[in-house]
Amino acid sequence: MDTAHKPDDIGITVRALEPADAQEVSALTGAPGTFEGTLQLPDMPVASRLEWLQKLEPHGCRLVAVAQGQVVGSAGLHQAGLSLRRAHVRMLGIGIAAGWQGKGVGRLLIARLLDWADHWAGVLRVELTVHADNDRAIALYRSMGFVEEGRHRAYAIKDGRYVDALCMARLHPNPPRLEG
Ligand SMILES: CC(C)(COP(=O)(O)OP(=O)(O)OC[C@H]1O[C@@H](n2cnc3c(N)ncnc32)[C@H](O)[C@@H]1OP(=O)(O)O)[C@@H](O)C(=O)NCCC(=O)NCCS
Repeated sequence: MDTAHKPDDIGITVRALEPADAQEVSALTGAPGTFEGTLQLPDMPVASRLEWLQKLEPHGCRLVAVAQGQVVGSAGLHQAGLSLRRAHVRMLGIGIAAGWQGKGVGRLLIARLLDWADHWAGVLRVELTVHADNDRAIALYRSMGFVEEGRHRAYAIKDGRYVDALCMARLHPNPPRLEG
């Protein structure tokens, strides 16, 4: 696990997302400064995301970052469909509150997710899609071992224009092998 950013360094605790966090995480996800980089729409009710956030994901990992009792970021690894042939794959999603971006919270959350994937859950491939204009996210993903695999043209509408998206993935750098 990446120990460069210990929770103490930036006053953050990382823990599992609980159903009771859904309201707070939904508000964060839909807030200006965060929703634009995702596929969320502006001015959607907090309630529109609650069902998804309250759903337990036994084959996924959902985390929140908490500072002074408030959720300031969330991130998850989600099953990539139900096919057994993609059982080794998880899809990454992440959102940090606008006032907390650029302070290492995203790196902290992703490091915890990759520890879960690499050392506990038998995940070989973590994949994601990111808007091609999201320089901060792309820099963070690259620095954590993700590589670009392709580009979707006109992937989504963003503030009145089409944006491309990059597909990126990280393969387990040292998958477990039988010993002895
Ligand atoms: C993208 C996002 C998840 C990154 O999380 P974060 O906590 O802001 O990122 P961190 O502070 O951990 O790391 C950002 C890294 O990018 C670098 N960076 C910041 N702004 C940058 C920019 N404009 N261009 C290039 N690199 C940049 C930082 O220097 C940092 O690298 P370092 O740790 O080596 O110094 C977060 O900003 C966010 O939620 N944005 C809005 C929603 C979103 O875009 N979600 C991602 C959807 S794919």
